[in-house]
Amino acid sequence: MYPDAIVFVVSAPNLSQRRLEQLQRDTASASSVPSMLIRLEGTETSLPDALDALCDAGHSRLLVQPLGIPFTESLLAWLPGAIASWRRARGDDAVDIRVGREPGTDPDHLAEAVEWTLAHAGEARPTEGVKPSLGKPGWQNPPDFTHHLLVCTGPRCHYRDAASLLHVLKQETNRQGISNQCLTARTGCLFPCNQGPMVALYPRGEWYRLPDTEAVQRFVGDVLVAGRTLPDLLIHTAKAAHSPSTPLKDKP
Ligand code: FES
Repeated sequence: MYPDAIVFVVSAPNLSQRRLEQLQRDTASASSVPSMLIRLEGTETSLPDALDALCDAGHSRLLVQPLGIPFTESLLAWLPGAIASWRRARGDDAVDIRVGREPGTDPDHLAEAVEWTLAHAGEARPTEGVKPSLGKPGWQNPPDFTHHLLVCTGPRCHYRDAASLLHVLKQETNRQGISNQCLTARTGCLFPCNQGPMVALYPRGEWYRLPDTEAVQRFVGDVLVAGRTLPDLLIHTAKAAHSPSTPLKDKP
């Protein structure tokens, strides 16, 4: 029988954990075969981890099914190659793994969605009487910080376990007593994906690849705490970091 398990994939970087878990429950209860739902960004289960988990559980005919209206074209194009990389790394040719057609481009699916919308229009929530919420004071000023850390959680860094990077980075900045000096933000793709997972550090303008826990520990201790540079992990220094006062238009 094909498939014997499904990995539903969504691209939804801003979806809350609560909504993601709801989607996971909904797809699991609607699917007649074992399934998982993951997103291709962020800090939760990555695509390789999901494929490994299903294969380790004895499944060998996997369907990877994109979900979303629409699923981005670049990610759709990227998925088969990423799966091929996983297959090569795992060395398991017996796994039959296919990528499903995107339901968002299926006219029948869209027609169903429109039909559902009209059928449920009576349940829509009115906005009359809702308090305007823009301009709350807590969102007025930037917090006090020394290091601005941009941690890439784009799909390719996520594939390379950026989820653990963010987790370990937070643990280490806490352990080394500098978490209140660090403003950490997740970003989408920063381009040097092949060297990911990675973090960009400002205002120093230094970009580091942090492949494992030991690298993160060195990064926090040597770079953030001691102010040194780690040449073996440094992949880029932003031009403005060398001459911050030079206006862009005067640069050669
Ligand atoms: S996905 Fe992280 S640099 Fe591209």
